[in-house]
Amino acid sequence: MDLIAYLDSKRDEHLNELKELLRIPSVSTKSEHKADIERAARWVAEKLRAAGLENIEIVPTKLHPLVYGESLRAPGKPTILFYGHYDVQPAEPLDLWTTPAFEPSVRNGNIYGRGTADDKGQVHIHIKALEALKNLHGKLPLNVKVMIEGEEEVGSVNLWDFVTSNQQRLRADALVVSDTAMLAKGVPSITYGLRGLNYYQIEIAGAAQDLHSGVFGGAVPNPITILAEMIAKLHDRDFRVTVPGFYDDVATVSRQERKALNALPRKEKDFRKTVGAPGLCGEKGYTVAEQLWIRPTLELNGIWGGYLGEGAKTVIPAKAYAKISTRLVPDQDPAKIARLVEKYIRKILPKTVHCKFDVLSMGKPWVAPYTHPIFQKALHSLEAGFGRRAVFIREGGSIPFVTQMHDTFKVPCVLLGFGLPDENAHAPDEHLTLENYFGGIKSVALFYEELGKP
Ligand code: BES
Ligand code: MN
Ligand code: MN
Repeated sequence: MDLIAYLDSKRDEHLNELKELLRIPSVSTKSEHKADIERAARWVAEKLRAAGLENIEIVPTKLHPLVYGESLRAPGKPTILFYGHYDVQPAEPLDLWTTPAFEPSVRNGNIYGRGTADDKGQVHIHIKALEALKNLHGKLPLNVKVMIEGEEEVGSVNLWDFVTSNQQRLRADALVVSDTAMLAKGVPSITYGLRGLNYYQIEIAGAAQDLHSGVFGGAVPNPITILAEMIAKLHDRDFRVTVPGFYDDVATVSRQERKALNALPRKEKDFRKTVGAPGLCGEKGYTVAEQLWIRPTLELNGIWGGYLGEGAKTVIPAKAYAKISTRLVPDQDPAKIARLVEKYIRKILPKTVHCKFDVLSMGKPWVAPYTHPIFQKALHSLEAGFGRRAVFIREGGSIPFVTQMHDTFKVPCVLLGFGLPDENAHAPDEHLTLENYFGGIKSVALFYEELGKP
């Protein structure tokens, strides 16, 4: 049987198997899900075994285990390292899901559930592609090493320990990742750039304890007011970040590349519809694609303090907090940016309050040329799997591991994204379109087959 006919005959089986994985609530940020995380790791290990991989290991880390497996029975053929993650974001707010987050269901051509797009569905695409090749050819046509981690959504903190102590074992000719999105439905895409991510938390502290706002209000500092004023100073009217030096190391993107990125078939109307706000707002002088992919940003992720319960409480709170992040682009250095942000926060801080500034995580941006011949093979496999023209794009999101791998092993990183921008990753009603799930399995199987050819 030929590959495509085989895959078409397995559609229901594949989808039912994916649902099993989606039912495991492997939320990495919550300790109450520790057992589910471990169950998901065992599930992945078992399916890797079924796909013909060997030396399968569930490697414990300081937090969540990663799953490793390999098949090195194609001497003289290329070796790829496939990376993905089986952990997911929390499903809250639960009441906004049409069907429960961990009870996968199919409607209007999509499969819904936490992890469908990010990243269980995409990991499953590769496992099933490998299994198909093994079943059809008796063995895999190339050498593969597979590493599926359980901490991506909490910053891949412990992954690097494993990588540094297993550098030889992980060596490969290319890294393959499916944890991004396509530009749009029907436009298969290869991502060659990601932004980096720094995450900060600040605490503004005023009075030694909460104060009665009638007795004290008017004469004492209010940390919420002060925090709001400070936050308002972080952007100017053109929506540029005001932190001195923030843009100093931003690499200029060639006119040619900007032209190519702006010429991609991406519709502003669709973007506006996905966003759903009355208007858009971004750095002046750049197109939306540029704002998202080649420009750095500073975001407020959360702000809190004082009384948040039912009804009214008159109080001047002692403290106020904010969670802030910066998305970084080449050649910004995360450590330098963290220092600049803290310095500016302290500069605009009034003397009436204290400020605690914590850096919760840092991550470098990544961009790389796609000149290596493997990218043409990937492009053609996507085109064959989807029957559509494929494109090269950049993305605004972050995958800490990709940057680290690229820096360490200097290998080409092939990011084949099968999600879509409007599939609600990290949000209620996350889904994956079945067209991309099945088209993804075909494309990846063709890609791996192609890599095994001389
Ligand atoms: N899969 C995403 C990253 C992504 C999404 C890249 C869409 C490109 C397009 C990944 O799981 C993720 O959510 N990363 C986090 C960072 C991480 C350190 C928590 C992010 O980008 O916020
Ligand atoms: Mn992901
Ligand atoms: Mn994610």
